[in-house]
Amino acid sequence: MDYVTLGRSGLKVSRISLGAMNFGHSAYIATCDEQHARQIIDRFLDTGHNVIDTADVYSDGESEQIVGRALRGRRDQVVLATKAFAPQGESPNARGLSRAHLIPALEASLGRLDTDYVDIYYCHQWDPGTPIEETMATLDGFVRSGKVRYLGCSNFTAAQIVESQWAAERIGGTPFTVLQAQYSMVARTIEAEVLPACRRHGLGVTAWSPLGGGVLAGRYRDANPAPESRWGKIRDAGPAMVQRLVTDTLSDRNLRIADEVGRIATELGTTSVAVALAWIAGRSDITSSLIGPRTIEQLEENLVEIELPAELTERLDALSAPTNGPVNGLFSSAA
Ligand SMILES: NC(=O)c1ccc[n+]([C@@H]2O[C@H](COP(=O)([O-])OP(=O)(O)OC[C@H]3O[C@@H](n4cnc5c(N)ncnc54)[C@H](OP(=O)(O)O)[C@@H]3O)[C@@H](O)[C@H]2O)c1
Repeated sequence: MDYVTLGRSGLKVSRISLGAMNFGHSAYIATCDEQHARQIIDRFLDTGHNVIDTADVYSDGESEQIVGRALRGRRDQVVLATKAFAPQGESPNARGLSRAHLIPALEASLGRLDTDYVDIYYCHQWDPGTPIEETMATLDGFVRSGKVRYLGCSNFTAAQIVESQWAAERIGGTPFTVLQAQYSMVARTIEAEVLPACRRHGLGVTAWSPLGGGVLAGRYRDANPAPESRWGKIRDAGPAMVQRLVTDTLSDRNLRIADEVGRIATELGTTSVAVALAWIAGRSDITSSLIGPRTIEQLEENLVEIELPAELTERLDALSAPTNGPVNGLFSSAA
């Protein structure tokens, strides 16, 4: 197993990380029970991969509990990541990135994970209601106490990343080591500004939804998903605010990209999943792909590694090119 260094740190991580969002019960995401989650976790770690990612909000804390129980006796083999931001109660202070919320949120996560420390603690999203200095000082306290080893942010814009790193420097605190962001052939927005900011400010990048939530696995033919699939379940039972995601994800453009991925997979005698993950593995800015298998069979397919020939990478690059190209001024910055 090849490990890579995460951002400007000494931490070594596998090129594939395991997401635990599908573990436990959820009203509107297709999930798996603890027994199947355990099979997935055990197999993932047995193959030498080392990053497991969860969040307090996944399955209302059940995902953290399942992961915590699965890691008993092998905690030190794992780079364990969790996240905070989402509401954990009715109180206005039970959410966000304030000191008032982060301190009890970390304690609750450690309890559910049944561990004394997390390797990576993520801010799940930016909190416009808290000064970034307060957040970075609180996170620095976690690192100094030994309860957290590295800091991460998720879904931050380029400006928010820069502000955070500068705030950490100003207060003499610990900067972020990693960004977790949506990235795949159907979601390349971060290429324009976020990835350059990560490069300049020393953050590694973990790509969430590397299969576009399943669309790049080639299982959707049109915008009418089967009821048992993730997008079918969200369409049938999800809250109104996420309904738009179903049509956005199953757009004509995304289905066209998935079709081409399928054609290339057939040419190479492999699966769409292997092609989609190989495309990400070839992107130098991405440290690790954060997969979300719901069954052991899906995990096995996710772990197949292939080399994508350069001309096929170019074909996929062109087809999936983001519409928000980099803003470099009139002249090439390479000159
Ligand atoms: N930071 C954030 O805001 C954020 C947001 C989202 C996710 N995440 C993290 O990223 C992880 C992965 O996200 P994701 O679950 O969206 O990743 P993904 O790998 O893009 O999508 C996973 C889904 O793809 C389908 N799939 C996977 N392997 C397949 C296969 N071999 N054949 C057919 N279908 C397959 C399954 O859909 P079905 O369930 O329909 O079978 C599975 O649930 C999460 O667990 C979480 O840790 C973070």
